[in-house]
Amino acid sequence: MYKAHKIFEPIWQDYQNQNPLVRKIYELFIDLGEEVVNDHIAFRTFNDPRVNIDVLAQQFVDAGYEFKGDYHFKQKKLYAKHFELTGFNDAPRVFISELKLEEMSQFLRETVLGLIDQIPSELLYSPHLILKGRVWDKPYYATYEKLRQESEYASWLYVFGFRANHFTVNINALKQLDSMNKVIGFLEKNNFKMNTSGGVIKGSPTSLLEQSSVVAGTIPVEFNEGTFDIPSCYYEFAKRYKDKNGKLYPGFIAKSADSIFESTNYRKN
Ligand code: NI
Repeated sequence: MYKAHKIFEPIWQDYQNQNPLVRKIYELFIDLGEEVVNDHIAFRTFNDPRVNIDVLAQQFVDAGYEFKGDYHFKQKKLYAKHFELTGFNDAPRVFISELKLEEMSQFLRETVLGLIDQIPSELLYSPHLILKGRVWDKPYYATYEKLRQESEYASWLYVFGFRANHFTVNINALKQLDSMNKVIGFLEKNNFKMNTSGGVIKGSPTSLLEQSSVVAGTIPVEFNEGTFDIPSCYYEFAKRYKDKNGKLYPGFIAKSADSIFESTNYRKN
């Protein structure tokens, strides 16, 4: 048990309460007798200094997490950092991304600044922000749609706010479903739909990291115009391989992560 352990419990509870699909997958793994260990947990935010990556990372850093790498996503206008708890192999990595507001349209920038201005001042620059969900007024579906045309990422944040975007099952820790193909076969047999952007499996054994994810489940969300089903959170799966020195690859691959972001894209059913 490590100090950061207790940080994750409420984040996990919120995440699985919010997402029936996630709970179903978790229970299927448990029913199979698997122990579910998390490879990483991912969060999204905007790069405004009041709510940026460093604000969300604060409680993990206080618990001993260290910055280990950063990533650029040019087309999606995102920047991300990953953190690890050195010395604890089963502590999940923390992956936090932020949308670069200065690169967005005036409409998007003004909309987002209007949201951040509504956040209670005690939550700005605060590590507690990470679990607060949507900390602004009920969304408008028209605004969601308009944001979505420019950035699926921004539209997701507009509706769901600050919470885990996904947890990631560490395939290396599974006993029966010990390969990416076995995990995908198991999920498909249980009627889950995989994110096919960039191929169902992102990365390869030679790149030392394979990742896949299910597409986010849709949940009914109340907008000012009425209730609409929109994609919420998703589950990811990762398998890591050893480098030539026998050390498991610890980082992320920007190209793969870029495709994983699309797991929350809006889609017609
Ligand atoms: Ni991920």
